[in-house]
Amino acid sequence: MAWTDYGSAPAPGTRICPASAVTGVHPMTVRTDRGDFPVIVLRDGDAVRAFVNACPHQYLPLDYRGSTLLSADGARLLCTAHGASFDKTTGAALAGADCGLDPVPVTQNGDHIVIAA
Ligand code: FES
Repeated sequence: MAWTDYGSAPAPGTRICPASAVTGVHPMTVRTDRGDFPVIVLRDGDAVRAFVNACPHQYLPLDYRGSTLLSADGARLLCTAHGASFDKTTGAALAGADCGLDPVPVTQNGDHIVIAA
């Protein structure tokens, strides 16, 4: 499933959050007239990345049961529901799920992180 398959997928250019707010791993809801779109926004070195906040194991949000979403070595995103893990750069499944997280294209526009085209 691609992020654009979600009915609530925001249009390109939609603001997600201030760039300065992205210091770690952040579950957020992007609210537009299309509905609420759940995203995980994270800093990965100099890059800011985003994924749909829906674990492909049972489509629960990664923060369903807690707020520790990054492995101790900082390389993997963790689902708090049943422990699936994903590469934080690509979203690829590493354990506990048959497929990866859906990447959402984002870019910085001025002081804000926005949905990219
Ligand atoms: S829903 Fe994420 S591991 Fe089960």
